[in-house]
Amino acid sequence: MSGTAAVKKGRGGKKRADIRKVIADARDAARPTDVQAARAKRLADMMLGLITEEAAKHPEILDVEVGGSYRKGTWLAKPEMDVDVYLRFDRSTEQDRFKDVAIDVGRAALRDFAPYLKFSDHPYVEARLQKGVLANVVPCYDVDEGRWQSAADRSRFHVQYMTRRLTKRMKDDVRLLKSFLKANGLYGAQVATNGFSGYVAEVLVSHYGSFEGAVRAFARDVVPGYVIGRAAREFTGIISIIDPIDGNRNLAAAISSANMVRFVLACRAFVREPSADFFDGRRAKRSRRVARRYWDNLLVVRFGFRKRAPDVIWGQVKKSAAKLAKKLAQDGFAVHRHGAHVETGEGRGYLFVLLGATEISPVYVQYGPEFSMSENLDAYIGKNLGDSEMMWVDAKGRLVALKKWDDSRADAHARRLLNRENAGGSADALLPPGREGRPKVWIGSTADLGAAARGAAEELIATDAAIVRLS
Ligand code: CTP
Ligand code: MG
Repeated sequence: MSGTAAVKKGRGGKKRADIRKVIADARDAARPTDVQAARAKRLADMMLGLITEEAAKHPEILDVEVGGSYRKGTWLAKPEMDVDVYLRFDRSTEQDRFKDVAIDVGRAALRDFAPYLKFSDHPYVEARLQKGVLANVVPCYDVDEGRWQSAADRSRFHVQYMTRRLTKRMKDDVRLLKSFLKANGLYGAQVATNGFSGYVAEVLVSHYGSFEGAVRAFARDVVPGYVIGRAAREFTGIISIIDPIDGNRNLAAAISSANMVRFVLACRAFVREPSADFFDGRRAKRSRRVARRYWDNLLVVRFGFRKRAPDVIWGQVKKSAAKLAKKLAQDGFAVHRHGAHVETGEGRGYLFVLLGATEISPVYVQYGPEFSMSENLDAYIGKNLGDSEMMWVDAKGRLVALKKWDDSRADAHARRLLNRENAGGSADALLPPGREGRPKVWIGSTADLGAAARGAAEELIATDAAIVRLS
C-alpha cells in the first residue's frame, strides 16, 4: 500500500503517487475480509434471533430489523464495528413505555453479553458480542416518512434510500471515506468529536458518485455557503449537507466549522499528494508537527464530576474551556487557543489553555468614573485608593487605578477564579454543575495525564498533518 508502484511527475518534477492507484489499494484495505464478514453475519443473525424472541413478548413492538451501516454494507471491520438493531414500536406507544420496553428487551435479549446503557437522544442498550463487535438495540416509531416522533425514526428511511442509491463500488467508497475521516480525527457526530457521521459519509459518496468525486469536490469546489443536496429552508453554517430524505435537516449542523475546514484541507492535501498515510491514523499522526517546547505554556485544569450522558458532559466541558480562556484573556493573559477532554467512564474533565506567557504583569488598570458622566469621583477614590498602587486622572477626565493582582501566575490565577466560584456558585460558573472534589490546576505536562488526555493536550501544541502536507 505504499503507493510507490505507480508514480508520476507532479509539480516541480516531484514524484507523485497516482491517485487512482492509492485509492484502489486503500479501498481493498477498507473492505472487510471474508472471514470478518462471515463472523459479523453469524453474530448479527444470532443477535437478531435473540432480540426477535424477546420482542415477541411485547405487543407494542411491530417489527425488529437490522439497520445502520451493517445493513447497508458500509461498515468498517476495524477497529470495532457495531450492529444496530431497531425495535419498531406502534406509533401510539407512550414515550416512557417506548423507552422502558426497549431497554427491557435489549437487556433481556443480550443478558449473556453484559449489556449496559448508552445515551444519545434517549437511552439505549449496548453490548459487546465479541471482541471488536458491538450490538446496539435502538427503539424507533413506525411512522410515515417525514412524521418523525423520535430521533431514530429516520434511520429506516436512510437504509431504504442508501440501499437504492449505493452500488457495490460506492459502498466500498463509503468505507474508504470513513477510513479517511477516521485517520484524520474527523469521524463521529458525537459532541466529543463534532465530526462527520457514518451517514454523512454515505450521503457524500452518493451525491458525488465516488470517494474521489467527493474528495475532489471538497478540495476544489466547496466554498463558504455551499449547500450539498436539496434544502427545504435556509441554513446557517459554512457548508450545509442536506439529508436526502429530509430537506429540513442539515447534517453538517453537527460538524464544527473547524472540522469542516480541516476536512477541506485534508482533501486538498490528498489530491495534491495522494498517499496511504491519509487512511492510517498512526501515520497521519506522525506527520503532525508537535512544538514540544510549548508544553510549558499549557495550563491544565482537571476536575471530577457526577457521571452523565457523554454528549451532555462533553458539551459542558468544551464550554467551560472556552469560558476559562475568555476570562484569562480578559484578565490580561495572551491566550492562543483552548481545548477540552473528558474521561466519561472515570467522571473526569480537563480544560487546556495555551498561553503566550504563563505570567502577567503583577498589576492591572481599573477604570473608575468619568467626570463628565458622574460626580461620584470622591466615592470611588474613598473606596479604591487604599488598595491601589497609584491613581490618576487620564486625558478623558476619568479616574484610573493601578491595582495589584492577588496572583499573576496563570495556575494560581486560575485556581483563585475556580475556588471563588466554588464558594459562591455564581450563575456564569466556569465549571459544569455537579462537580466532585476540588479542581486541580497546573502548568505543563505531568505524569498525571493519562494517554488520551495527553493526546488531547498535545493537539493544542501541534500543527495538523493536513496543514503540514499543504506546505
Ligand atoms: N444516524 C443519523 N445521524 C447521526 C447518527 C446516526 O441519522 N448523527 C442514523 C443513521 O441512519 C445511521 C444510524 O442512525 O445509519 C445508525 O447510527 P450509527 O451506528 O452511528 O451510524 P452508522 O451509519 O451505522 O455508521 P457506523 O459505521 O459508524 O456504525
Ligand atoms: Mg452503526
